[in-house]
Amino acid sequence: MVGRRLAEHVHGLPGWTAIGLARRPPADAAFPVVAVDLTDARASRAALRDLAAVTDVFYTARFDHVAGSTEPVDANLAMLRNVIEAVEPVARNLRHVHLVHGTKYYGSHLGPFKTPARETDPRVPVENWYYAQEDYVIERQRGRRWTWSASRPHGVCDLAPGIARSMARVIAVYAAIHRELGHPLFFPGRPGNFRAIYQCTDAALLARAIVWMASELRCANQAFNVTNGDYIRWMNLWPVFAGYFGMEPGPPQTVQLSEAMADKAPVWERIVRRRRLVPTSYEHAALWSYGDFVFGSEYDMMSDTTKLRRHGFCEVADTEAMFLRLFDELRRVRIVP
Ligand SMILES: NC(=O)c1ccc[n+]([C@@H]2O[C@H](COP(=O)([O-])OP(=O)(O)OC[C@H]3O[C@@H](n4cnc5c(N)ncnc54)[C@H](OP(=O)(O)O)[C@@H]3O)[C@@H](O)[C@H]2O)c1
Repeated sequence: MVGRRLAEHVHGLPGWTAIGLARRPPADAAFPVVAVDLTDARASRAALRDLAAVTDVFYTARFDHVAGSTEPVDANLAMLRNVIEAVEPVARNLRHVHLVHGTKYYGSHLGPFKTPARETDPRVPVENWYYAQEDYVIERQRGRRWTWSASRPHGVCDLAPGIARSMARVIAVYAAIHRELGHPLFFPGRPGNFRAIYQCTDAALLARAIVWMASELRCANQAFNVTNGDYIRWMNLWPVFAGYFGMEPGPPQTVQLSEAMADKAPVWERIVRRRRLVPTSYEHAALWSYGDFVFGSEYDMMSDTTKLRRHGFCEVADTEAMFLRLFDELRRVRIVP
């Protein structure tokens, strides 16, 4: 999701060309994509050996792990190392390496953490592949001409064509099914989640912030939190979403979406047929386990973004308006009714 939006942005900038890397290049990408498995060092060297003109590496991959399991440190580190050690010897004009990380840097996935989280906060004493990658890049950059930077977004939102792991899709498909069943728009998360502070990052804003970081000398060798800049509580947005979908807002009715929605494929298929939507299989319509992740925590998610602003990136996005725009777009392309 992050990589595709970023590559599209970079590719559209005057004087820039983006080359994507992925195991399964999307057929409809607007930029060239090299097929490579980055866990394989030799294959990475072979696939990247002609990329002599590369000036910037934007690293947005993450090792595919089983949902709910710990994200492996070694595999994620090896993938980054395989890119850098394949590109560095051939790309004589390499000037920047950017790492996309996230609020998990502060242990946001482990339990309540110090908020607002600042870039200078001490690391959490738990293994984290972001730390391993950052340490590797800091070490590798010593004595080199290139610089590095890292972004720490949270709850990245985009239309993400073909990707079910999207908050807007989870909410929009959930709403469509409950409206079809004649229910109000119950909030599926925990009561504490309904009330807690949350934050999102618009993928397009993140793409612009990353290119800015890569281009600003004063950002060299630093990390920056990147969010929309505002904070939300689902309890405030839920009635707005209900109104948008023509439903009554409902109170929290805590469920595991991955269980509660597991048997709703026939309802979805009926909606797709009756409303003449673009046929999207139920498993590709929305990733319920991602909804469980987003709506499962009962503490504040809050990053401090003043460092970003102090260094000169002042763009912000209104998260409520962002969601309504994404819902509009999902309707326009006939993914949801
Ligand atoms: N999404 C969010 O809400 C969010 C929030 C905060 C931080 N982040 C961070 O942002 C970064 C990107 O996240 P994302 O949501 O964009 O992830 P994503 O949608 O899962 O994309 C991961 C990308 O990595 C590629 N990839 C995975 N394994 C690969 C391999 N072995 N070789 C080559 N390519 C491989 C995938 O392509 P193929 O499968 O085709 O190989 C895919 O394009 C991560 O660091 C994540 O932690 C994301």
